Amino acid sequence: EKGGFKHFMLKEIYEQPRALSDTIRGRVLSDQGKIVFEEFGLTRDEMRRIEKIYLVACGTSYHACLIGEYIIENIAQIPVEVDIASEFRYRNIPFEKNSLFVAITQSGETADTLAALRYAKKFGVKTLSICNVLGSTASREADAVFYTHSGPEIGVASTKAFTCQIVALYILSIGLSIAKGVFPKIFIKNLLEELLLLPRMAEETLLLDKKIQLLAKEVYRKPNFLYLGRGVNYPVALEGALKLKEISYIHAEGYAAGEMKHGPIALVEEGFPVVFIASDDLYLEKTISNIEEIKARDGFIITISSSKEEKLKKLSDRFIYVEGINSYLNTVLFSIPLQLLAYHVALLRGCDVDQPRNLAKSVTVE
Ligand code: F6R
Repeated sequence: EKGGFKHFMLKEIYEQPRALSDTIRGRVLSDQGKIVFEEFGLTRDEMRRIEKIYLVACGTSYHACLIGEYIIENIAQIPVEVDIASEFRYRNIPFEKNSLFVAITQSGETADTLAALRYAKKFGVKTLSICNVLGSTASREADAVFYTHSGPEIGVASTKAFTCQIVALYILSIGLSIAKGVFPKIFIKNLLEELLLLPRMAEETLLLDKKIQLLAKEVYRKPNFLYLGRGVNYPVALEGALKLKEISYIHAEGYAAGEMKHGPIALVEEGFPVVFIASDDLYLEKTISNIEEIKARDGFIITISSSKEEKLKKLSDRFIYVEGINSYLNTVLFSIPLQLLAYHVALLRGCDVDQPRNLAKSVTVE
């Protein structure tokens, strides 16, 4: 049942190229620069009218929402508000007109996410759920559903469901962008062509496994970790930290790299592990200066990046190069070494990676 893998989590990490490809298939007509609107259960006209988007979820799915915020605001230029479902459901939200509420949930059964969905519906807001489980409560109750086709996720720590959620949000943002006519056709066509590269690039990224395993051996005894990223990689840092803490029980925190100076840098002393996530984009220079500050305090710098910049490599104690596609899709690729790092560290610490203590796969009570 584990297909030759030692754990479901590892099997599911390795299934990502296939899962991503299944989530893309049938939704994208890249040669025509089009997407299949019917897949969202929303017409092109309904999409054109949307002026505000609420993205709501729990845990790892919430991190997908945060990534979605950057992608949608950039590609579709629609304002996005992200919230944790347990907070959203008890706020008094003055919903803006022409809003779309999006619930993101692998299981489709998370109590707080369902309550948030029902809350939005009560106010007459149009709802969409991005779900993995067919026929789940969220998929039935929302006005429209977009399925991620990750296949069943058994490991408690979400891996392939998360990266497929990012793909769903990427396709949604392109749909909205087309409907609103935000960018020229050629720009959209490029984004879609880049998306089609993702499964193969995920396959390539999995080849880092051996290297990550060696890295895990060096760091698995550390009691604390800090994960830092900027822009769309800030939520990737949050997710990297969550993955490590939930399966290895090591205390880990994710932060926006720009916030480092406002508190967390006080933690850094000799050998303190800091994981940087950086694309080869306009944030790179800023991230490099953050790395310099950690270096000055003798922290142990692990960099995961799609840049080959000499300075970046020289400053890093361990450098993991990931061949990138674009800043949005790189979030999927960077998540793979982060998942593998959490997995190998947890194994070395003798933890039950598929069934971490105190956690349930689906949280059906508040
Ligand atoms: C973490 C994890 C949880 C879930 C969260 C939401 O690895 O799996 O944080 O992401 O409980 O679950 P769904 O997506 O089923 O609503």
